[in-house]
Amino acid sequence: MGLRSEHWYAGDDRNAYIHRAWMRRGTPDDAFTRPQIAIANTASDLTPCNAHLNEVAASVSNGVYEAGGVPLNLPVVSLGETNVRPTAMLWRNMAAMAAEEMLRANPVDGVVLLGGCDKTIPALLMAAASVDIPAVVVPGGPMLTGTFRGVPLGCGTDVWRLSEEVRAGTLSQDAFAKSESAMIRSRGHCNTMGTASTMALVAEALGTIIPGVAGTPAPDSRLLEASHGTGKLIVELIEKDRRPSTFLTKANFHNAIVALAAIGGSTNAVVHLLAIAGRLGVDLTLDDFDRIGSGVPLLVDLQPAGRFLMEDFHRAGGLLAVLREVRDLLDPEALSVTGNPLVDHLDDAPIWDPEVIRSRTEPIIAEGGIAVLRGNLAPRGALIKPAAASPNLLQHRGKAVVFDSIEDFHARIDDPDLDVDADSVLVLRGCGPRGYPGMPEVSNMPLPKKLLEQGVRDMVRICDGRMSGTAYGTVVLHVAPEAAAGGPLGLVRTGDVIVLDVENRRIDVEAPDFLSRAPSEAMSKAFATPSRGWERLYIDHVLGADTGADLDFLVGSSGSEVTRESH
Ligand code: FES
Repeated sequence: MGLRSEHWYAGDDRNAYIHRAWMRRGTPDDAFTRPQIAIANTASDLTPCNAHLNEVAASVSNGVYEAGGVPLNLPVVSLGETNVRPTAMLWRNMAAMAAEEMLRANPVDGVVLLGGCDKTIPALLMAAASVDIPAVVVPGGPMLTGTFRGVPLGCGTDVWRLSEEVRAGTLSQDAFAKSESAMIRSRGHCNTMGTASTMALVAEALGTIIPGVAGTPAPDSRLLEASHGTGKLIVELIEKDRRPSTFLTKANFHNAIVALAAIGGSTNAVVHLLAIAGRLGVDLTLDDFDRIGSGVPLLVDLQPAGRFLMEDFHRAGGLLAVLREVRDLLDPEALSVTGNPLVDHLDDAPIWDPEVIRSRTEPIIAEGGIAVLRGNLAPRGALIKPAAASPNLLQHRGKAVVFDSIEDFHARIDDPDLDVDADSVLVLRGCGPRGYPGMPEVSNMPLPKKLLEQGVRDMVRICDGRMSGTAYGTVVLHVAPEAAAGGPLGLVRTGDVIVLDVENRRIDVEAPDFLSRAPSEAMSKAFATPSRGWERLYIDHVLGADTGADLDFLVGSSGSEVTRESH
């Protein structure tokens, strides 16, 4: 098989001369006949979770050289979850598009994808799926566990928890401030089962990472060893023409959903997996998450819902130990990037700490997956993660307290006169992909201060936005269609009775005239109306959360074919 890069480097015409001459820079003559491997690198000082990826890239380069390829560093758009405003998700599709276009535009035969912080692995996988060249992910890995006053800190989760304690008056502002320097102990991404950890593990279950690598802590030297091995593997993949479209099938997504449920992963994985599947033309639907995942036992006791952190998870055996427990639920046909079925990697995968990873016979929750709700409030679906919710709220009737925007919510939530009690249902709308571009992680609304002071720690909350993977609570989210796309969430009024029935997968408003009402004017005024740039393009083309919130013109693959000459 000829190399794709031959379209640039082979021959003795002027174009080949130009391509070779500018890239030569000391490389040997035969470099231009070897596989050219891009290392799509999201390292950035502004993405602290990924800042160490240059060292990872160096190990990948060594492996590529050793296997006879030529490694090429390709910096790509990087998204730091804590810094990028208004929300990194606004740029996921842009990062995916930019990476896809640069891979297609350049003399590249295969790519190693270096990601970590939440959106970076999904964006890179979407890009690789669309350009369809051989690709392997190296996940940057979670940070080590920091401690404060002798207690482990789960980054993200404990920020929410500690800040709620300050609001409730049970923790001093001074103590809160002191915990800040203890929160991030080392290089790496968040150490809870948040979106970054989830996406690394789910990407491995999907088959795009060498089995056993995801979850390796960022400072662990075994990550560099795996990076070296991945550099060697990508060269082999080119020889075998193992492109994403040749082995990523519905069976792979089936396994990813089983893994997502068994690890108690972030709800954000749903939009990311739907978007990746859309790029591959795999027929994955929201209902597949409930059908495949809802009966899967939750086996991993990690924050935000549980006790431990990613360092413990890795020590306890990691993803392969989890998957071995649910082996019968996996699709044995699904191949990993190694060319072997994923299940073949599970024979020697013991659990080393049954407190962190439970056996199948002693699950944390017998049915731990994400539930997909429908009803007159969410005709195209909404999600709830029962494992992160309060069991007593999974069947609930309560009166709605409606907020038309994030600003409206912040302005009124702590008003002592707000008519709200522990049984109320907080409704926040205008936060879907179009209404508040990027679909921010605001669904886990902070509770009213006056209820916190009464000891209330959870309430039913409903939103068309997302929720941080490090958050917890009885939160119905990703409501589709979103209010800004004409969804019925825009028709709810304060005082309406809302019925949540997770067992029967329903979310409804009990009001006879509900669907014939006019949308709230205040709400409509709050929707974003950007006039230029990416944000304008985004709201004109973004699809609903129920299909992955990709842009309509990015769904599918345009392949890697080199179609036009330049010089
Ligand atoms: Fe980067 Fe949490 S902020 S993974």
